[in-house]
Amino acid sequence: MSQLERTFAIIKPDAVAAGNAGAILATIEKSGFAIRAMRRETLSKAQAEGFYAVHKERSFFNDLIRFMTEGPVVLLALEAQGAIQKWRVLMGPTDPAKAPDGTIRKMFGTNIERNAVHGSDGPDTAAFELGYFFRGYELR
Ligand code: CMP
Repeated sequence: MSQLERTFAIIKPDAVAAGNAGAILATIEKSGFAIRAMRRETLSKAQAEGFYAVHKERSFFNDLIRFMTEGPVVLLALEAQGAIQKWRVLMGPTDPAKAPDGTIRKMFGTNIERNAVHGSDGPDTAAFELGYFFRGYELR
C-alpha cells in the first residue's frame, strides 16, 4: 500500500487562458486527489527562473520562462496515496503528442512546451516545489 503523500502541481498559462482550469480541477478531484492548497497567480520572471533553476542550461529555458510568466497559473498542493506517481500518470508524458488518451496533457496540452500542467518528478522535488510556493501554515 503506497503512503499518503503530497505533490506539487501547476495549471500552466496555456490551460488557464484557454478556460480549462475548471475542467482540470474537476479531473483532479474525480481521480481521487484532495486539493490541500490552491492559489491563482501570475509568476514573476524571478519566481519562474528559481522554480525551473535545474533547467537553466537547457536550450528551451528562456522560452519556458517567457511562457510560464505570460499569464496566470494555478498553483496546487495535491494529496493522495502515492500522489507523486499518481499525478505523473494522470498528466501523461511531457510531450502531449506522446500522451495516452485520458491524460490531462493529451486532453489539454498543445506541444512539448505548452503542455497544460506541471508535476513534481519525485519526493525531493515535491518537497522543494511545495515549499517554494506555499508557506507551512497553508499546507496544514
Ligand atoms: P514541466 O514538467 O513543467 O518541466 C519543464 C518544462 O519545460 C516542461 O514541462 C515543458 O513545459 C518544458 N519543456 C521540456 N522539454 C522541452 C523541450 N524539449 N522543448 C520545449 N520545452 C520543453
